[in-house]
Amino acid sequence: DIPSLAETFKDDFAIGAALEPSQTSGLSADLMKKQVNMLVAENAMKPASIQPVEGQFNWDQADQIVAFAKENGMSVRFHTLVWHSQVPDWFFQDADGKPMADETDAKKREASKKLLLDRLDAHIRAIVGRYKDDIKYWDVVNEVIEPADPDSMRNSNWYKITGTDYIATAFRAAREAGGPGIKLYINDYGTDDPKKRDRLYALVKEMLDKGVPIDGVGHQTHINIYNPSVLNVIESMKKFKELGLDNQITELDMSVYNWNDRTDFGAVVPDDILQKQAQRYKELFEALKSNAGLVSAVVFWGIADDHTWLSTFPVTRTEAPLLFDKQMHAKPAFWAIVDPS
Ligand code: XIL
Repeated sequence: DIPSLAETFKDDFAIGAALEPSQTSGLSADLMKKQVNMLVAENAMKPASIQPVEGQFNWDQADQIVAFAKENGMSVRFHTLVWHSQVPDWFFQDADGKPMADETDAKKREASKKLLLDRLDAHIRAIVGRYKDDIKYWDVVNEVIEPADPDSMRNSNWYKITGTDYIATAFRAAREAGGPGIKLYINDYGTDDPKKRDRLYALVKEMLDKGVPIDGVGHQTHINIYNPSVLNVIESMKKFKELGLDNQITELDMSVYNWNDRTDFGAVVPDDILQKQAQRYKELFEALKSNAGLVSAVVFWGIADDHTWLSTFPVTRTEAPLLFDKQMHAKPAFWAIVDPS
């Protein structure tokens, strides 16, 4: 019998994992019951899953995850009310079925913008209304910053049609539908990068100054065994904490390859690589522990290496980014975290 992560860090922060509905039974479920006290849907609560057709909500998969969490006394994060990806096209089509973003007539653009914000508002009120008592932490918007774009905002359909109004609308609708008991997050990746961090900070500050109800920042933290530095990860979260916001690590995993590396270790990941991974995980968790109150949750994007999005992204290959291997056995990284001596 091995120690429990949730138990080990119970005085520091919650420990979570992302899962598919199919993982609410079987070996992954058993492992999660023992190891984590928070869950997030890997795909089941994204716009395309939950409202594939306007007015037709698909609650089954999301309900399954919420029920599993309840049965096991776990809290839930909602991921995600708004995103540029995994969102159905109908959101962005005007009354004639044309893409709103292509419209050039100013009056029609204004009408489209209103229609899109109304749809967004309805989407959010339906979902938050249903789950507000069961789900405490909400990714309201995901990946809205893109420093490579001219104005640093991702040039998504949301942005093309509404500017940054969709962000304010989303947070306000969530707060109105959910009340003060739910916590609302702006979630993004690469928040350790000073340029992206500063742009995100400026946006959040601007929103807060306008009275937009943002409670925290979600840091995806898809890192690898080489980059980025743990120091940068921590520094970024400190900045947001100074703004009075909560931080959560929302999608933690640690690839065994560097960003632009496309090699494949094949069947066996070399032991020195797994040791390096253990070292980095240890460094990260020690930093989080020693900065009390910096994060309220650390959520892994999966539970064991048998199921990870990185095994097909950016290319199909062997990956091993989590704390448990394909056989659900604890890896060196697990032991480095629970017993760092
Ligand atoms: C990923 C899922 O893990 C995959 O199963 C899916 O095919 C694509 O999305 N950032 C996010 C998550 O915010 O929603 C993504 O999840 C991973 C990157």
